[in-house]
Amino acid sequence: LKAPVITIDGPTASGKGTVAQQVAEVLSFHYLDSGALYRLTALASLKVGIDEDDVDTLVELAGDLHIVFREGCVRLDGEDVSNEIRAEHVGNRASAIAVHGALRQALIARQRAFRVPPGLVADGRDMGTVIFPDATLKVFLTASVAARAERRYKQLIEKGFSAKLDDLSRDLQARDARDSQRAAAPLKAAADALTLDTSGLSVEQTVETVVGWFRERT
Ligand code: C5P
Repeated sequence: LKAPVITIDGPTASGKGTVAQQVAEVLSFHYLDSGALYRLTALASLKVGIDEDDVDTLVELAGDLHIVFREGCVRLDGEDVSNEIRAEHVGNRASAIAVHGALRQALIARQRAFRVPPGLVADGRDMGTVIFPDATLKVFLTASVAARAERRYKQLIEKGFSAKLDDLSRDLQARDARDSQRAAAPLKAAADALTLDTSGLSVEQTVETVVGWFRERT
């Protein structure tokens, strides 16, 4: 019997990460930030100087990355890059390389390896559609562009990055468009996902709703 999985997919800055981490905490489940894997690959590709369309080299790089998630921090080849991977240019590069089907394939096993007892909460774009199609509960989180730009702005400022609301709003719409329109595992709600618009909800309300849905099913 496989461990239960809750998938939380949605567009950039819809609150997936915060909500997924808190749901995992409430249920004492493991947590997978799949976007971090794309961000780590992006960061490594920038450091090494690999072109965003050089798929073969990107696949090789992804296979070689030594990644450790621990206590909210992530290490890449021994270096703590938890903050560095959150920079906007790394997120944009992540979205640019995430269009490559071969690279996505190369990251599948790493993601599925997180599914261990007592259970997993996984957030991303294709958790419910591709990585864990048999998930116990699939959630699709949305929020208005304005609400998401505002959240991302606060996040970046808190992390010590500079940011402009207008630029963020434009960037996140461009990223949504690319993530939704790509051929390989595009951003979309799974047919059996429950959609939740979080524009007017607090994190606590969102977490409660998701945990409630999960408990109804188990
Ligand atoms: O979620 P986050 O903003 O950290 O993800 C960065 C980028 O990685 C996304 O814009 C998306 O292009 C890509 N991604 C993906 N599939 C996932 C998670 C992230 O394509 N499961």
